[in-house]
Amino acid sequence: MERIRTQVGIVGAGPAGLLLGHLLDRQGIESVEIENRSREYCESRIRAGVLEHGTAELLAQSGVGERMKREGLVHHGIYLRFRRRSHRIHFPELTGGKSILVYGQHEVVKDLIGARQAAGARIFFDVEKTEVEGMEGTAPSIRFHSGGRDYEIACDFIAGCDGFHGVCRPAIPAGALRIHEYTFPFAWLGILATVAPSSDELIYARHERGFALLSMRSPQVSRLYLQCAPDEEIAAWSDARIWAELQERFSTDEGWTLREGPITQKGVTAMRSFVAEPMQYGRLYLVGDAAHIVPPTGAKGLNLAAADVRVFARALDAYYREGKKELLERYSEICLRRVWKAERFSWWMTWMLHRGVAGEFAEQIHLAELDYVSGSRAAQTTLAENYVGLPYEEM
Ligand code: FAD
Ligand code: DHB
Repeated sequence: MERIRTQVGIVGAGPAGLLLGHLLDRQGIESVEIENRSREYCESRIRAGVLEHGTAELLAQSGVGERMKREGLVHHGIYLRFRRRSHRIHFPELTGGKSILVYGQHEVVKDLIGARQAAGARIFFDVEKTEVEGMEGTAPSIRFHSGGRDYEIACDFIAGCDGFHGVCRPAIPAGALRIHEYTFPFAWLGILATVAPSSDELIYARHERGFALLSMRSPQVSRLYLQCAPDEEIAAWSDARIWAELQERFSTDEGWTLREGPITQKGVTAMRSFVAEPMQYGRLYLVGDAAHIVPPTGAKGLNLAAADVRVFARALDAYYREGKKELLERYSEICLRRVWKAERFSWWMTWMLHRGVAGEFAEQIHLAELDYVSGSRAAQTTLAENYVGLPYEEM
């Protein structure tokens, strides 16, 4: 067994774990990170695509924003489409000048891994048998297997950045956590297609046949989603069927057309709301998806993970530089205030835009809600300020 000593042991090299390691490094705090997938897998896993104003700023201010600023697409609004018409929500006008950045999560991951490697970081990819222990005391540890050898990381704190299906949250005794959970009765079928996006901004469409979303990854690559059943068989969806369904759901009376192109990736994503409270157990801190999940409508998942990291990095800074434990003790409380607001927003966006499962009365309410949002500046301001990202919590 090889023993490694560090200050913070990080489980998971998704956006949360990588950004945490990066920020800690800049604060002079040592960390070691482990990841059970390969570097290539992490760098090509297609997930979120929208960065809030504050997330983009956090990345840029910490020195990993160069490519993001060059290649990211600044969007000043989104379209809500229903009853065959589009209604634009203009972010800067409604939020005092804020906008969002369309830049793929896997690009953020690539930039962070690049920065971590340039800084000489210790990241173990392809690890197996991750276990965390000793969180109740002052000397927690992480065990894992890599390249035919067993390792133990002895650390002061463990950051559980291992996503929803990781091992850190389940390592906490059941009685110590309160779980809030809801599974939606629908899912998203997502595709990546080599075709120029048919719109300059994202389109969230509600149609009789269900929700559809047009997004993008670059001027040449479109990302599209459509509402489907939670147990949808991806094999039943030929490329032709997917395009026909998307054409139908995006159809308008505005002379707009959806461009089609070769589909390079497709997959089904479940939709759930989930919060584990508190986000801490002794010296184990849950960060990002390990602690909470939002349905993807509203694009909050990645941004919430970044917001948790920001709080945890500050708390560790206060601890190591000034010996102050207060922020560490308040980590969960500070993060959860933002988490619950994002849960609320994602829940609201999801129900307003999806259809076919909540009964006819609810359908009419959701349509009325869309109608209200598209006609009221107050309602648009509510949507816009949440979409670009609420101000960070005071610490
Ligand atoms: P993750 O990105 O999940 O990172 C966790 C990391 O830990 C992974 O690399 C994983 O391999 C690793 N890991 C797990 N277990 C272990 C272990 N035992 N040992 C070591 N490492 C481990 N959000 C949006 O806003 N828009 C979207 O369109 C969108 N699409 C999504 C599609 C899918 C399929 C999923 C799962 C999520 C999607 N999300 C989306 C949510 C968003 O991607 C997440 O909120 C974001 O990835 C959270 O980052 P994270 O670092 O907390 O977790
Ligand atoms: C994307 C995903 C979302 O969930 C969303 O609300 C907007 C965009 C995307 O993958 O581009």
